[in-house]
Amino acid sequence: MKIAIDGPAGAGKSTIARLLARRLGIIYIDTGAMYRTLTLKALRQGIDLNNENELYQLILHTDIDFFYNGEEQKVLCDGEDVTEDIRKPEITAHVSRVASFPRVRKIMVERQKRMADKVSVVMDGRDIGECVLPDADYKFFLTASIEERAERRRRELIAQGYDIDLDRLKEEIKKRDEADASREVGALKILEDSIVIDTSHMSIEEVVDNMMKIIGEK
Ligand code: DC
Repeated sequence: MKIAIDGPAGAGKSTIARLLARRLGIIYIDTGAMYRTLTLKALRQGIDLNNENELYQLILHTDIDFFYNGEEQKVLCDGEDVTEDIRKPEITAHVSRVASFPRVRKIMVERQKRMADKVSVVMDGRDIGECVLPDADYKFFLTASIEERAERRRRELIAQGYDIDLDRLKEEIKKRDEADASREVGALKILEDSIVIDTSHMSIEEVVDNMMKIIGEK
């Protein structure tokens, strides 16, 4: 079984994808974490984030792995646990730029396809239904209003110890939406076979129940 979940930042994708995978007893793969990991390594090495070739060389020499420790999922960059570091605001601010380069995306998509090759997966990202799992059994597109997404992001940041103004978050989310929707390759879009769910007024559990029902019906 292959399940693709795409949608903009803050629509609840990763929490929902993780729970859905758990209910189905299959693996969850967070593809955003892979772009975040590359961004972290590039920033640490002082690589110019506008230089596609340098980023391409970097991804070729970077191992990104997921490690499952019971319920917890860790992200490893060349063997180092970067799970927390890749969620920092500095990474969030730069990741769309890194994810905009077609040659970087090509490598990421190839690796993601390979990860999903022999096992059942729930995979979330922006281009999963279109590029990574075009033959997915289900393609969900999760969305929510910008207000709701900014509120969720703010709660997440507060939990991490950051207090950022809501209007500023809305602006940042809008900018990231635009960047993610307008790039040449792998742009975020609703597909002909997408099942669209607006999560603005739904709890996480309601969304997952709804998806399980859809999956059970086919
Ligand atoms: O889902 P997220 O916020 O962790 O994603 C981080 C960034 O990576 C986001 O700005 C878009 C990009 N991304 C992408 O371009 N393609 C994917 N499949 C997943 C994420």
